[in-house]
Amino acid sequence: MARRKKIYEGKAKTLYEGPEPGTIVQYFKDDATAFNAEKRDVIEGKGVLNNILSEFFMLGLGQIGVPTHFLKRLNMREQLVRSCEIIPLEVIVRNHAAGSICKRLGLEEGTQLPRPIVEYCYKDDALGDPLVTEEHIAAFGWASQQDMDDILSLALRVNDFMSGVMLAVGIKLVDFKIEIGRIYDGDFQRLVIADEISPDSCRLWDQKTGQKLDKDVFRRDLGNLTDAYSEVARRLGVMPTNPPAAGKPTLVN
Ligand code: TMP
Ligand code: ASP
Repeated sequence: MARRKKIYEGKAKTLYEGPEPGTIVQYFKDDATAFNAEKRDVIEGKGVLNNILSEFFMLGLGQIGVPTHFLKRLNMREQLVRSCEIIPLEVIVRNHAAGSICKRLGLEEGTQLPRPIVEYCYKDDALGDPLVTEEHIAAFGWASQQDMDDILSLALRVNDFMSGVMLAVGIKLVDFKIEIGRIYDGDFQRLVIADEISPDSCRLWDQKTGQKLDKDVFRRDLGNLTDAYSEVARRLGVMPTNPPAAGKPTLVN
């Protein structure tokens, strides 16, 4: 088999040239990093779980008309996506206070916010992804005013979708981060949800017990990360070990 051309290697994923122009293969690694890669480890099985969970969320978003870069999952670790130009922003939506907003504003972890709060960080590892305002984004030309209107409405739609899906399986969506890509169709450009949506980029707490089911388990040494992600996958009915449905369902008395 011909060797694929590697386009980019990030902390948790590697991107390869796709089989057709305008496509990319996203390979999900088992590498976990936190605190701007100061803490790192290899967590066996994490990549498989994130690949399947991200597929699940992206397909669901597509079904409610939120455009994403996702095309199809290829195997346990890879998915085919549309190639897009990533806007250099981490778009964060918060429903409850956790992580950096607690430090910045002196809030107690878990406090429900008066309404979802959307924040933007400039994607630059060397700078530690600093928080920026729309003023910086406009002045430096990272996104236009129209883009920002579209990004805000996409972020809030993703929040409503993800909150509802998680609530249905007894999980609270505390916050999450998404990345936005531009796709050019001739003279037109449109914005899509890109990168991944997985427990690496969300905070997910069990509704009843408050147990953390996301990357904070790794960041704060709270237990086994694959167990936490597997629990999310199991509740959503997408655990990779599920045997494929064989034939017609039979009635069990
Ligand atoms: P924060 O509380 O550290 O600002 O993180 C907010 C959310 O964004 C949380 O769900 C984790 C996610 N996130 C990432 O996915 N990547 C990052 O580099 C950072 C800093 C946060
Ligand atoms: N993803 C970032 C890192 O690798 C930050 C984090 O998720 O805590 O360092």
